[in-house]
Amino acid sequence: MRRLLPLLLVCLLAAGTTVASSARSAWWWLAAGPLLAAACLGGWDLLQRRRSELRNHPLVGRLRYPPQEVRAGARSGGAREPFGGDRDAYEYLVPSLRPVEPAEEEPPVVRVGGPDCSQPYDMALLNVSAMSFGALSSRAVLALNRGAALGRFAQDTGEGGLSEHHLRGGGDLVWEIGTGYFGCRDADGGFDAREFADKAALPEVRCVSLKLSQGSAPGSGRVLPGVKVSAEIARERKVPVGETVVSPPSHRVFSTPRELVLFLARLRELAGGKPIGFKLCVGSRREFLAVCRAMVAEGLAPDFVVVDGSEGGTGAGPAGFAGRLGMPLTQGLITVHNALVGVGLRDRVRIGASGRVATGSDIVTRLAQGADYTNAARAMMRAVGCVGALRCHTGTCPAGVATQDPLRTRSLNVADKARRVRRYQRETVRDAVRIMAAMGIREPAELTPGHLVRRTRPGEVRSYAELYEWLAPGELLAGPPPSWETDWKAADPDSFG
Ligand SMILES: Cc1cc2nc3c(=O)[nH]c(=O)nc-3n(C[C@H](O)[C@H](O)[C@H](O)COP(=O)(O)O)c2cc1C
Repeated sequence: MRRLLPLLLVCLLAAGTTVASSARSAWWWLAAGPLLAAACLGGWDLLQRRRSELRNHPLVGRLRYPPQEVRAGARSGGAREPFGGDRDAYEYLVPSLRPVEPAEEEPPVVRVGGPDCSQPYDMALLNVSAMSFGALSSRAVLALNRGAALGRFAQDTGEGGLSEHHLRGGGDLVWEIGTGYFGCRDADGGFDAREFADKAALPEVRCVSLKLSQGSAPGSGRVLPGVKVSAEIARERKVPVGETVVSPPSHRVFSTPRELVLFLARLRELAGGKPIGFKLCVGSRREFLAVCRAMVAEGLAPDFVVVDGSEGGTGAGPAGFAGRLGMPLTQGLITVHNALVGVGLRDRVRIGASGRVATGSDIVTRLAQGADYTNAARAMMRAVGCVGALRCHTGTCPAGVATQDPLRTRSLNVADKARRVRRYQRETVRDAVRIMAAMGIREPAELTPGHLVRRTRPGEVRSYAELYEWLAPGELLAGPPPSWETDWKAADPDSFG
């Protein structure tokens, strides 16, 4: 009701002034005119179904939040821009003097699923990154899911579990399991294998991702503020209504790299051979190498690893963490790619990348740095109507995206937002394909670090191939180069250190 007060006030004033003006001079009409126009505009804001923030905040929303065309390419998603660029980039992709025709038909996909996986999945180049029902509203989750179904890409459920809203839209899902084991949690808060197997068998679940950490808050348990723990979420997560949910900082089911690798293999078995992977924000190279050593020792590898950069987003992260802990995406990605190449497992493990991926050139950049596909969280939130109000943790999101308040959520038009999500993903991937074509590249797998260049100082540019060290397949096993030797020797498959 408080949100409608400005509109009510304008309506009352307009009505009062109009009544008074009927008996008085033209000056009264001068005052009544704008008020009447504002009242009509406010009425329109309430009735329209495209901008949820205006339905929640008629009139005032116009002053506070710019229209979505300005916020995201979700509405028009046009492939043309007027007037050219105005950036003096210090990093750029290398165009070719022999470009190729962009393949306009089917967007490229990457097959996820190593030799131990019996139900591989063809992943799109851009997917919806992990965001839980809880952090997001039911309608936002559903709109993302329907968008994913329309565009044939995947939505990661986030660690809050598989909710009915994830299952209603028919989109492909990556089911994320966090340290709270929501969705497959036993009475003591541990992992319930039977529940996991039942849900993993659902046809919508195409992959399972075990979350070790995320960029905005590595090493800390995820928090869902009490204001967002509605009865439905409490039921889904098996926690009390209205109480803040804090997931443990680490997993109970494993405590060493070897146990992690064995648990991943167990998950794949329980999931009937669907692709299994894990998500992390890399801290130390030695720790990741310890996991690689465990893979080699056990002869087991995940089907994918998602690398999240420390620049990643969150719904409610601990203060002071974001951007301060963990490797930024470029460094994390190159570390994980090199480590997997170095132990000879890169051809069976796909790498996903997340962290400020929003445009076609972001996708191509990440592929050149070693990723096979990308995920976006905040850009997808924009596509479902996020206005960047930065109130995700308070439950008062004006756009009905990151809230559980039913009144605010109701304003989000699922059908419209699902179309926008689909359009945003399609146009962004098309941009990536066009950029690759301009670089003379037909297949994403042809991208190399040599295609990305950085200006290191005035008058000097160096490609990523020169800037970073790139290991040869199996090089760590055969004999690590000096720069890797200390970490490789210290990496212990039986201890994270
Ligand atoms: C609202 C919100 C909720 C999130 N919830 C999760 C989650 O449940 N699990 C997870 O692994 N990451 C979560 N993340 C992190 C994203 O999946 C992603 O890794 C990170 O935001 C980087 O992507 P971006 O820069 O495209 O936002 C969340 C991010 C946001 C913005």
